[in-house]
Amino acid sequence: MGAFIVKQDFRLTGVQTESAFFRFEERNEFDPEPVMDVLRGRRLGVIFRDAIPEDAKKETVARFWSSPGLLRRDGEPSYCIGSYHWNKSTESYLKDAATTADAVLPLLDVPHSPWRSFRSAMAEELARYGASIRIAEHEGEPAGAALIRAWDKEGSFALDPHEDEAQCTDPRQAGFEIQRAADYEICAVNMCVQQGDGGRLVVWNIRPDDDSRTSLGIQHTGFSYPAATLEPFDAIQLDVRSGDVYVFNGRHVHAVDACKGHRTNVSFLMGFVDERTVVTWT
Ligand SMILES: [Fe+2]
Repeated sequence: MGAFIVKQDFRLTGVQTESAFFRFEERNEFDPEPVMDVLRGRRLGVIFRDAIPEDAKKETVARFWSSPGLLRRDGEPSYCIGSYHWNKSTESYLKDAATTADAVLPLLDVPHSPWRSFRSAMAEELARYGASIRIAEHEGEPAGAALIRAWDKEGSFALDPHEDEAQCTDPRQAGFEIQRAADYEICAVNMCVQQGDGGRLVVWNIRPDDDSRTSLGIQHTGFSYPAATLEPFDAIQLDVRSGDVYVFNGRHVHAVDACKGHRTNVSFLMGFVDERTVVTWT
């Protein structure tokens, strides 16, 4: 990354959404209905404040930091447990998902697991429409259940501006069902179990088009958008605290701004792949 030179006259183009859409709904307890609105492209995002029980947070954090499966990612400084499909073939992603599953599961199997609560509430809500939610799969092999990450990168962003749609067009993943999610909405689900200072979620009102991605050399990665290219667009800065669960449309460029201490999240991506099926992946 970083070697790509952005031309001076480059202008990021794409879709901007209306102000009625471009906002976060804020709730004090979990409710699957606004999540359905995000999945259906009716609103940008929703945040449920303090929705994760104390014991679940504590146990997730304790298991994360003591896990033998904890990995250091140097390219994009963070600690993580789990796998991600970004920038790899379906085969190597699913292989990673299988290898890391034993480390991921204990973090989801905590008392009052927010991961389980979220999924069972969504399953119940989707059933009202004759639909269901499951982990994505390919030829019988499951995707990752969750990716648990702690950011600690210095600089203006802990996680650089990017979007989650481009990665769903990677030709090395042709035929993988998650690519059909791009026909609907691609939603990022995050459960914050530990939070230092700062580390706000920043979302810009731009869903970049393919021409822009190609010009930036990030056609199938969506990572990253130089800060200067985002200046013309409105942005939302959302304070995130330990215990918050938030879901938003990952087609919009987003980032995590600078934080002190660890910002640890349980996360996955989610989207409809047909009218009756929501799948999740990492
Ligand atoms: Fe993202």
